[in-house]
Amino acid sequence: MKKGMTIIAGAFFLAAFMVLSVQSQEDMAEVDPSVFMNPQRPAAVFKHDEHNETAGIEECNECHHVYEDGKLLEYESSEDMRCGDCHGLEAEGNMPSLVKAFHGNCKGCHEKQKGGPIMCGECHVR
Ligand code: HEC
Ligand code: HEC
Ligand code: HEC
Ligand code: HEC
Repeated sequence: MKKGMTIIAGAFFLAAFMVLSVQSQEDMAEVDPSVFMNPQRPAAVFKHDEHNETAGIEECNECHHVYEDGKLLEYESSEDMRCGDCHGLEAEGNMPSLVKAFHGNCKGCHEKQKGGPIMCGECHVR
């Protein structure tokens, strides 16, 4: 009986956790800069779902990528991870540092597609 309750309680917490994490992505309005020890800039504006819809980005792994031995795995996604789970504050081999990873991803696409902000203050809005 006790064991059953534990399992039910566990399932409940897991469900609540999943709902919360889905919400945080939908409700995300900026990229949390707290992984940087001492952020110099205000958090960059990024309304996750709205941005990706407006920009017409279909694949999650356009940003949440996975590499193996330097090769991009086309069908894999790391959407359950934060960029900083792989990218350290310093570059490591071919893996750019976390700042360069963000700037390369965000600004890189904006420049390539000639859409989206590329000036510091347009993303790091005070
Ligand atoms: C344009 C780039 C981009 C695309 C496309 C994208 N994401 Fe994200 N996503 C991000 C960034 C940046 C973060 C914040 C990562 C961090 O804080 O390290 C994030 C965070 C998340 C989080 C974590 C939310 C949190 O607050 O912990 C989830 C879950 C997620 N994305 C799921 C998805 C899914 C599912 C898709 C596809 C439908 C997707 N993402 C497409 C850039 C993107
Ligand atoms: C599972 C680990 C992992 C996660 C999570 C991850 N990356 Fe990467 N990323 C890598 C590796 C490994 C490379 C180096 C690829 C190579 O060998 O060229 C890389 C390369 C890059 C590059 C340069 C090459 C390219 O693809 O443009 C950018 C920019 C980048 N990452 C941005 C991001 C962003 C932004 C996020 C979060 C949305 C993120 N990465 C999440 C592992 C990861
Ligand atoms: C794969 C391409 C791509 C990537 C990656 C990307 N963007 Fe964008 N972004 C766009 C395009 C295209 C637009 C213009 C959309 C429009 O308004 O037509 C845009 C618009 C924006 C805007 C202005 C409109 C809005 O949604 O407020 C902001 C801010 C922005 N991007 C921030 C970011 C940040 C921060 C990142 C990195 C975490 C990022 N973008 C990554 C393509 C991209
Ligand atoms: C397309 C959007 C975009 C543009 C343009 C941009 N950044 Fe960022 N930047 C980001 C994102 C996303 C991060 C990750 C942390 C966060 O959310 O602030 C970041 C992180 C940083 C960081 C590390 C965290 C901190 O606050 O110390 C610095 C420093 C920084 N940017 C400076 C700049 C400067 C200087 C410029 C102009 C030359 C610039 N950025 C332009 C999106 C952008």
